[in-house]
Amino acid sequence: MKNEWKEVLVCRDAQEVSRQAAELFVRLADEAIKSRARFTAVLSGGSTPKTLYSLLGSSPFTERVPWSRVYLFWGDERCVPPDHPESNYAMTRAAMLSKSVIPEENVYRIAAEQESAKCAALEYEQTIRTFFGLTQGERPRFDLILLGMGADGHTASLFPGTAALNETGRIVTANYVEKLKAHRITLTAPVINQAANVVFLVSGESKASVLKQVFEGPYEPVRLPSQLIRPDEGCLWLIVDLAASRLTSSLKAEV
Ligand code: 6PG
Repeated sequence: MKNEWKEVLVCRDAQEVSRQAAELFVRLADEAIKSRARFTAVLSGGSTPKTLYSLLGSSPFTERVPWSRVYLFWGDERCVPPDHPESNYAMTRAAMLSKSVIPEENVYRIAAEQESAKCAALEYEQTIRTFFGLTQGERPRFDLILLGMGADGHTASLFPGTAALNETGRIVTANYVEKLKAHRITLTAPVINQAANVVFLVSGESKASVLKQVFEGPYEPVRLPSQLIRPDEGCLWLIVDLAASRLTSSLKAEV
């Protein structure tokens, strides 16, 4: 059972991946705001989305986003202070938030710097519950969740062989990652699969092997957690460059 990708964009290079992702962000924001007067977007960390965030924080894209109606969340965070070089929030602030006009109160970062990772996860879960006005057991439906894909097949902070892969009751969990010797705070797979749009951004030669395994290999989500991502009713997007898609025969260059 592989990911049944709904929309696949194969771009010539990482810059084009970022540009296509920025266009999609603007379009999805426009659609969500037209129908629900707001756009809830979950951002990913790592290095791939940096250029996307820079584009969204600069002309011409930043003027095309009705930032007062945009609400930002994170799909995962490292357990470090918000100004730490490893922080996903710090990366996003530098690339986009410091340049865009999004109101501070629309930005919901994960306070992962606190002593207890478990408390950080519970606190963020409560933040999401309150924002969406969720009843007990109800999951949020974000308009957009951006995801990266690690060379080991992880996404968000759902790492191979970790406890979070089996978490279905919580919205957010603290996941101990042995290979990192650290906890990460992450949205759980069922919450990601509840989103209206899930967008994987994958670029670079180093992802070619894992993309082929995720896209064309057997269903082994404990080894390849990215395979857990199959939106229940939402649209699954893959925006990838030629280098990352080189080994995946069923992908062809489209942009
Ligand atoms: C993180 C991310 C993580 C990332 C992948 C890919 O906190 O690091 O959320 O899931 O998306 O590790 O990272 P790169 O884009 O740096 O390859």
